[in-house]
Formats: sequence, C-alpha cells, structure tokens
Amino acid sequence: MNRRSDPIAVFDSGVGGTSVLRHLLRILPNERYIYFGDSANAPYGTKTTEQVRELVLDLARRLTARGIKALVVACNTATGAAIEALRTQYPQLIVVGVEPALKPAADKYPGGHIGVMATPVTLEGEKFRRLLDRFAADHKITLLPAPGLADLVEAGKQDSPEGEALLKALLSAYAGKLDALVLGCTHYPFATAAIRRILGDGTELFDGGEGTAAQTRRWLETKDLLYQGPGQVLVENSLDSPEIIHLTRKLAGLE
Ligand code: DGL
Repeated sequence: MNRRSDPIAVFDSGVGGTSVLRHLLRILPNERYIYFGDSANAPYGTKTTEQVRELVLDLARRLTARGIKALVVACNTATGAAIEALRTQYPQLIVVGVEPALKPAADKYPGGHIGVMATPVTLEGEKFRRLLDRFAADHKITLLPAPGLADLVEAGKQDSPEGEALLKALLSAYAGKLDALVLGCTHYPFATAAIRRILGDGTELFDGGEGTAAQTRRWLETKDLLYQGPGQVLVENSLDSPEIIHLTRKLAGLE
C-alpha cells in the first residue's frame, strides 16, 4: 500500500529528465522526489530498443524496491521502448511517461509543417509510429533524428561551437519554414537558445514536460496520494561523479 509521503521516482538516461522535473517541482513542489540519471549508460537513443528496455526494467526494479508511489519516465526513448512492459510489470504503480508533444503541435497548427526532433530509437519505435499515423495525413511532418545532441547536453556543451554546428547541420534548411518544432527528447529543451538562433522566432517549440507533470498530478489526485511536504529532491546518478550531480541540480534549477 502506498503512502502519500512515499517518493516519486523520476528517471532519464542522464540529465535531460530535469526538463520534466522542473515542471513537476513547479506544480507539485511539496513532493519527495528521487531523480535518477543513468549517465553511465547514456545515450539510450542510439542503442537497440531491446537494450533500452532491459536497462529501463533493471532501473525500475531498483527504484520500485525503495517503496516509490509513482514512476515518471522522463525520457522519450525509454517511454517508447519500455512503457508497456513497465505497466505490465507494475500494474499497481502510477507509471507516467513523456512522449513527443506531436498532438499539441498538430492541434495548434492544422495543416501546418511540423518538425519532430528526437533520438533514432524514438523516431523508429512502434509507439511513435502510431502517433505519427494519427497526424501525418493532415500535416507536413519532418522527422529530424539528432544523434549526438543528448551527449552534448550531458557534457554541458549545447551552446558550444560543436553544439551550434550539429544543430545548424540539422535545422538550417528549415529556418523560417516550420510552424512548430517538437523537442521529442528531454535533453533538447536545454538547447532551446541555440535552436532559436537557427530557426528564428516564427517556429513554436513544443516539449512534453509540462503535460507529463500535469498527468502525474492527475494520477496522484485520483489515487489520493498527493503529499503536502516538506518537499525534497534526492539526485542520484549511475556515474560516480560529483560533476554530473552538480550539472543535474543546476539544470533542475536546484542551485
Ligand atoms: N533524454 C532521452 C529522451 O528523452 C534521450 C537521450 C539519450 O539518447 O540517452 O529521449
């Protein structure tokens, strides 16, 4: 039986899930969180779906053993590869996963040109293909796999010349042409400034962080599991490195 004071585990392949954690902290500031980054195994986005699923299930085993009341998969790649397996294995647990915010972008720009930037595993996965099928007929959708970008964010280098070059190679051709760009990887919101420099102000950016946080709140309300504090965030990482903990806390807005 879960208690209100049990923690919410939020995990990602690394530091990117803090873009979801930020929204959680804003709308649910009184909860106790464990943020776990699997940076030792990052990036997930260029592995096989099976490898990602195995990593995620292993992580979930360790996190659920700590008596959590909810598991937030703050990684689009992990959601695509493993959310169904997680729900099957933990039917009693609140399991929420972030996915590319294609629906809100498509709804806002009927018939528009929408780019979806995500990892190769996400874009090739069955779950995303089903989402794409719902909107592809009525919109022009351009898929933009961005291998390497999550690694740069892990290294705190998204605004370096290297980051700028990677984004230019990917996006320059679409400057002034996209109505919306979906940031389908939780690392990418941290590259927003560089993306805007290339695409200009005419493209609206969408990410799934806010919707994921809102869905987590809805589930906690439904199950009467909202906690009233004091709030707390425990930051952990599979890499034994003070630098990665510091970067995680910084990106989460904790310091
Ligand atoms: N942050 C992860 C996502 O949302 C992917 C990063 C990686 O490739 O590990 O998809």
